[in-house]
Amino acid sequence: MKIISFVSAKGGVGKSTSALYCAYILSKFYKVLLVDLDNQNSLTRYFINTHKEINNKTILQVLLEKISLKETIKQVSHNLDFIPSDEFLESLDAELKHQREYKLFYTLKPVMADYDYIIIDSPPNLPVHAKLAISMSNYIVIPTPLSDWEIDTIPIVINYIKAYGIQNQTTIGISLDKLSIVPTLVENRHSISITGLERLKAEYGKDVIGSISKREEIKQQKTYRNIENLEKTLAYEEYLKVVELLLDKKLSQKRKTVGAKS
Ligand SMILES: Nc1ncnc2c1ncn2[C@@H]1O[C@H](COP(=O)(O)OP(=O)(O)OP(=O)(O)O)[C@@H](O)[C@H]1O
Ligand SMILES: [Mg+2]
Repeated sequence: MKIISFVSAKGGVGKSTSALYCAYILSKFYKVLLVDLDNQNSLTRYFINTHKEINNKTILQVLLEKISLKETIKQVSHNLDFIPSDEFLESLDAELKHQREYKLFYTLKPVMADYDYIIIDSPPNLPVHAKLAISMSNYIVIPTPLSDWEIDTIPIVINYIKAYGIQNQTTIGISLDKLSIVPTLVENRHSISITGLERLKAEYGKDVIGSISKREEIKQQKTYRNIENLEKTLAYEEYLKVVELLLDKKLSQKRKTVGAKS
């Protein structure tokens, strides 16, 4: 089982979109749990229509030990389970009493053996719950658009990982396999994207993986409201490449064996 977190210090960079695509792609070959750890609830709103349907069965309630983890897990498509978020998640910092740094890890631990991958979507600005995600992830992905403003914020995440993340991971026996940066909202003909990509590659080298183009089809979320429709979007192939690069071709080997059997 491996844990993949999508994090950034900036908002609106494509964390939730990337988490959604990558979770869906992986679920075609593996058993996946997607966790919405953002109080803005983007993914929760994608999968679940009403508050009534969520009925307070969210990750926050589990972290606060008010309900059991299994009560919150919903199957959203074949091989893909989901845990909804809570708009009050930001109160976690004040409310968490014990096991603070490792709370999310120990909360999810009982179901870890049921999944091949756990994917965590996190909020911007690195509040406590985003830090909990970093501190338990084998793969950390920082999506970033290519303006200087956005690239300048990448060290905020990296510095946190170096200062606390790695140490917290060691304590719970997790090792960071990879830290990757994915260019998002890329406009191939625009000079900001061209110079931004050059800068990103100069500063982060082979940690920069794939490239996700800015596309109207993603903005117009309605066109892919049904998760199976993600596969029909042009971004799907770009995200497939990101997942391949992130997992060092493990996915392409898996795709070949699955293809050979069918
Ligand atoms: N490749 C893309 N092309 C066009 N629009 C995109 C693309 N990726 C994301 N978007 C849109 O940009 C907005 C921000 O994306 P998203 O919600 O994935 O970012 P985020 O980093 O999760 O934001 P937040 O920090 O607020 O959680 C959304 O409206 C989304 O539909
Ligand atoms: Mg988001």
